[in-house]
Parts: sequence; C-alpha cells; structure tokens
Amino acid sequence: MFDNFPLWPERASTAAGNVDALFIFLLIVSGLMTLLIFTALVYFAARYRHRRGVLAEQIEGSTPLELTWSVIPFFVFMAIFAWGAAVYFKGRTPPRDSTEVYVVAKQWMWKLEHAEGQREINELHVPVGRDVKLIMTSQDVIHSFFVPAFRMKQDVVPGRYTVAWFHATKAGTYHLFCAEYCGTQHSGMIGSIVVMEPSQFEAWMNGGTTGPLSVSGEKIFAELGCVTCHRGDAQGRGPNLQGIFGKPVQLENGRTVTADENYIRESILDPGAKIVSGFKPVMPTFQGLVSEEQLNALVAYVKSLSHSLATPTGTAAATAQDNSKAPGSAPGSQVQ
Ligand code: CUA
Repeated sequence: MFDNFPLWPERASTAAGNVDALFIFLLIVSGLMTLLIFTALVYFAARYRHRRGVLAEQIEGSTPLELTWSVIPFFVFMAIFAWGAAVYFKGRTPPRDSTEVYVVAKQWMWKLEHAEGQREINELHVPVGRDVKLIMTSQDVIHSFFVPAFRMKQDVVPGRYTVAWFHATKAGTYHLFCAEYCGTQHSGMIGSIVVMEPSQFEAWMNGGTTGPLSVSGEKIFAELGCVTCHRGDAQGRGPNLQGIFGKPVQLENGRTVTADENYIRESILDPGAKIVSGFKPVMPTFQGLVSEEQLNALVAYVKSLSHSLATPTGTAAATAQDNSKAPGSAPGSQVQ
C-alpha cells in the first residue's frame, strides 16, 4: 500500500512485508497514544487551571479507571509481543533445504562462497524464489550483514558461526551494508545482492566454477590427515563422521549436543571442548592452521557426508536429484 510512497526501502523478500506490517502497527499505536496523552494534557490543563476562590477537590483512587488503564495496555502489549515473536522466529529459522552460502567478513570486505564452489567478493548472486541460508563468520572484529530490502540484519562474529536467511521475491540489485562499526573504512564495507531469474542464475552458476565447496573440504580433510583417524569403518581413533551432521551426539561427560555448524567448527579448533562418548581427547587443535575459508570447506564436507551416504564426494548422480526442481539445468552442479 505504501509502494509508491518512498518512506520504506524496497521490499524484495518474503520477510519484508511482515516486518513492515509490524513496524507500521507499532507506529500507529505510538501515534495514537501520543495523541491521546497530549489531547488529555491540554484539555485538563485548561479545564482545571488555577482560578481565584476555586479549590481543587481531592480524589482517592478509582478502581474502574485503574483497571481500564491496566487491562487495555496489557492486551495491546501482549499482541505486540506475540506478533513480534512470530516475526522474529520466522526470521531466525532457515527453512530446511535452503541453499547455503558461506560468508566471511573482514576489515573491510565481504567474502562469499556458494556451496557449489563459486566465490564472490562484496557481491552475492542468488536466484529469485529460493530460500538462501547464510552461514557467517568474521576473520577479525564484529561486523553486521544488513540488507534493507530483505529486512534482514545479523551480526557476524569472530570465532563462531551466526546464521541468517532470506527468500528473495524480486529480481534486482540490492544494497548490502555492514551495520556494525568495525574500523576506519566501516562505511566502505558495502556490496550488493544480485537477485536473478532462475534461468539466468543457472547460467551464472555454470560459468567458471571451482567445484563444490564440499569437494575442496574433502581435499583439505585428506591433506591435514584427518582421514587417518576419522575413518568410515569405525576403526579410527576419532568418531566416524558419516551422517553425523544435524544429529545428536553423545558426549563423554554425559551431555548430548547437536552436530551443527558451530559444533563442527569448535571440534576442529578446540577438539577438547566436547569429547564424543567412547573416544579419548587425542586430537590436536587446528587453530591457526586453517583459514576461515578452509574451515567453511571442512564444515561443508562433513555436512555432505550426511546428504549422500553412498558417495560423500557429492557426485550428484548418486543422490537422486529432484528433477522437477530445475528442468533443463545441468545436473551435477548441486551438492545438497
Ligand atoms: Cu564491517 Cu562495519
């Protein structure tokens, strides 16, 4: 309804309408309350102004009045809470089967890497109409990934992964900002999200790929010697990683954790933090030995072990691709 009235940035994601509706509702409630308070203030100031010989009559409380001004705001605030929580949780929870993009922030640029292997700097190409999950980390200080047109903002923190997602609804080029002061050139840490029609995106994807991220990860996994302990036959000194991603893991101290991105990351950088039940803390740390990009590749590789149990390298033919998804597109470009 406000599309031709540029008070709001362009709306280009499924979240944008929900966020704006809530924001407009908050504005209207605040506006009405302000109006109510100031009208009453002016009215009472005039009505009960000081007059010679007229003394004010003191009133001791009024239950109906107090109940009214407590109960009505209670319901208004509960509505805001419920609505806000619904929008928040939807924005926080990436749908299953989202396309994954790894983001590494550094002073002062955005490095993006698609699960299929494409790397980009300060630019992210995505198709219209697909859920895109961003798995983000920083190489130095805290940054913040902010795309106004998607109504999406998420801090990007060194030492861990944070996650955000969006579903673009309109082709176009949209601003990407860093929204956390991160040093001298913070204001220059900008980029663009290029949303393309699916066919154009396929064409873009097929140009100049370096191979899936999980395949680079597998190579690093071999180079670092991880395979000698994490073997597929359960004879290794480390846990078998086949199929663990997203599953609960029983730890030596009795606790259970879910094997998500942050768990894998931590297990590489600080292997002693969470020892899997039945294993000894013998793994050395890889802190300082692997870059953020290599970490992302390793995480993508461990994930790929769960997507296609038969062929961990992600040769797509074996994973029975859903043909209805992208007819005519080259098979084999998808790992997921
Ligand atoms: Cu990065 Cu501000």
